[in-house]
Amino acid sequence: MRRFTIAFFCVAFSITIDAQQRRRTVDVGQPLPGLTAAQRAGFADGLGEFTDIDTVDDGLGPVFNERSCAACHTTPAVGGGSTRMVTRFARRVGGVFDPLTALGGSLIQDHAIGATDGSPHTFSPETVPPMATMVVHRRTTPLFGLGLVDATPDADFVTLAQMELERGDGVAGRVNFVDNIRAGMKTAGKFGWKAQVPTLFQFAGDAYLNEMGITTPDFPNENCPQGNCAELTFNPAPGINDDGGGPIALNDFMSMLAPPPRAQSRDSKDGEQIFERLGCDSCHVPTLHTGSSVNAALDHKPYHPYSDFLLHDMGSLGDGLEMGSSTGSEMRTAPLWGLRFVTAYLHDGRATTLDQAILAHDGQARAARDRFAALAANLKAKLIAFLQSL
Ligand code: HEC
Ligand code: HEC
Repeated sequence: MRRFTIAFFCVAFSITIDAQQRRRTVDVGQPLPGLTAAQRAGFADGLGEFTDIDTVDDGLGPVFNERSCAACHTTPAVGGGSTRMVTRFARRVGGVFDPLTALGGSLIQDHAIGATDGSPHTFSPETVPPMATMVVHRRTTPLFGLGLVDATPDADFVTLAQMELERGDGVAGRVNFVDNIRAGMKTAGKFGWKAQVPTLFQFAGDAYLNEMGITTPDFPNENCPQGNCAELTFNPAPGINDDGGGPIALNDFMSMLAPPPRAQSRDSKDGEQIFERLGCDSCHVPTLHTGSSVNAALDHKPYHPYSDFLLHDMGSLGDGLEMGSSTGSEMRTAPLWGLRFVTAYLHDGRATTLDQAILAHDGQARAARDRFAALAANLKAKLIAFLQSL
């Protein structure tokens, strides 16, 4: 259902950060520049949907992770990431991957509705079943600027993968072709830690269902709690919870959310050269371009995500899960824009410093990691200053 939402006029808030001992104030969480009044209204409406706290009447649950998108996507403004992790479990037997769907996998919903939510039946949050051989945590990623990625033609990512292959240095990514529900075919996966989702629109419906338990026309089937579909007999809000307006509004908000502005300094400019010299930019590609878009703010625009959004074999850094066509050790190059707002790095937040995050690179990134490890301390500091300027 399209819920009545309050337009938030104070969308972004100013924060002050201390980078290279110089205090700067930056605005994050703003809409893209150059939007029409109608587009800005769509952004505000979508922001309302994104922050809206859902209840049992709205279709929340039976099992869920949080009551709003904004509960996880918080930092440093609505639409950002956070250290909120979700848990996935799975099993691998004789090399064959099994997401244990019949037991409620692979994503755990760690909350459930009950009496305090006004549900006549008390459901139980999901837990990792003893059958699982893998337990993986995934960090909430920031959404700033992702509309630009959504507006980049699939063919550009195919070309990029081809160019990386032709470089012949063993650092070649590939496109994760995944089911695109609306297109009715496989298209390039761009979103999520494994590039397992093709569009922001599809991610909206997917997250509505899997993080909050809200069903929509594209995702009509409620998650069976811990895989036990008999429990759904007690679902206080069966059927389609949202007529499809919700994902459209969420898509409007996300696709018009501007990338974080840069905070450059002299050290960060030197650091960018070191980044290139080490070969970090083989995967963390500085500049991409959108294709044609009916939205002028997304039409043929260059942007700077520091990612190719392709899957790379990361060796021991891979999380073991298979999604779309990805193998267990393949991960999407993490975009580095907005890195200065991140405090727990890598897919599971295991690294608390950038140094640790880089040293954990393996597989195709091993050579670049070793070049980083061999760097003199003053050059390392410049590289880190560059990463903190993004
Ligand atoms: C319980 C916390 C949580 C909630 C609630 C949540 N998300 Fe997320 N979000 C995550 C995590 C964790 C990831 C990384 C997912 C992965 O790849 O496994 C993510 C990733 C995403 C991405 C992909 C970003 C990228 O880097 O490619 C989008 C888009 C997104 N979420 C949108 C939403 C929307 C829209 C909602 C509300 C309907 C929502 N999320 C609710 C935790 C959450
Ligand atoms: C082979 C491709 C590749 C190369 C080369 C590479 N990276 Fe990465 N990088 C990735 C992938 C993939 C991830 C996400 C890893 C994960 O799953 O946690 C990542 C993650 C990161 C992160 C953490 C981002 C976050 O949000 O947690 C940082 C920082 C980073 N890389 C910096 C670098 C630097 C600096 C270099 C050069 C020394 C480099 N990378 C070289 C592929 C690469």
